[in-house]
Amino acid sequence: MRIAVLGTGTMGAPIAENLARAGHDVVVWNRTRAKAEAVKGATVADTPADAARGADAVLTMLTDGGAVEDAVRGIDTLPLWIQMSTVGIDATEKLMELARERSATFVDAPVLGTKEPAQRAELVVLASGPQEAQATCEPIFDAIGKKTIWVGEAGAGTRLKVVVNCWLVSLVTALAETIALARGLNLDPQLFFDAIADGPLDSPYARMKGSAMLAEEFPPSFSLKLALKDANLALAAARRAGVDLRVAHSVVEQFRRAVDLGHGDEDVAAVYFALKP
Ligand SMILES: NC(=O)c1ccc[n+]([C@@H]2O[C@H](COP(=O)([O-])OP(=O)(O)OC[C@H]3O[C@@H](n4cnc5c(N)ncnc54)[C@H](OP(=O)(O)O)[C@@H]3O)[C@@H](O)[C@H]2O)c1
Repeated sequence: MRIAVLGTGTMGAPIAENLARAGHDVVVWNRTRAKAEAVKGATVADTPADAARGADAVLTMLTDGGAVEDAVRGIDTLPLWIQMSTVGIDATEKLMELARERSATFVDAPVLGTKEPAQRAELVVLASGPQEAQATCEPIFDAIGKKTIWVGEAGAGTRLKVVVNCWLVSLVTALAETIALARGLNLDPQLFFDAIADGPLDSPYARMKGSAMLAEEFPPSFSLKLALKDANLALAAARRAGVDLRVAHSVVEQFRRAVDLGHGDEDVAAVYFALKP
């Protein structure tokens, strides 16, 4: 298939490379052209419209709803649009409307997994959209992920993504608080990891983000500023649903503090700095 990938940031670049590796004809566009040029195996287009011309599918992987909308507005012919960015429920509804105006088939397919799983083609795709689009999408999802879950009609994938992100941002913040408490009580935080090791409280995520916090090294897999966006998307979704997410409110406060301290471009584990004395 000929596939246009709009957005070659942390996630879009490995996704485009894996699609090319799987034998698809990949055209990439990125606002900062140099990043598109670094994508192996793909052709670079000057505009989203140039990238989309003649493509069987257009895949968007940009920061938020506004960036996706800006990129797609200029495209005249759009047969199949696979929207993978995390944009939340309100923006997804807006993009679905844009797809209707363009008579495009819209597949809402946000992903789980950060930079490294994206590079290893091990993402989990939370796909939703019309059943007749599934067969066309499968080889695309198989090239970039280890698992696809078809959730239902377009919009359901985004709702599930918001739910999973609520879990993720709460976990990482609780971990930062736990390490801060251990330090405050004059305990080596490594003792906490030793205590939970191999028991039901242990988790690969706690170990991964915990070692970053102990080493105070935060190369971005999933940046703190994107995680703040996602925590806010969870709060917006909860408001719509009439659910009171108190933990997520605190998460937003801690993320905001760490971003204000200058750590927004570091990994989400840098929420650690919000709690560091
Ligand atoms: N990283 C993760 O672990 C992860 C995991 C799952 C989902 N996601 C989601 O996937 C999406 C992309 O994440 P990422 O980590 O790849 O982010 P990223 O590295 O920051 O890349 C963002 C991309 O969006 C582009 N962009 C931003 N604003 C734009 C605008 N106004 N107009 C045009 N292009 C714009 C950037 O272009 P420039 O290069 O010109 O800045 C870049 O291509 C986000 O929605 C994120 O929440 C991320």
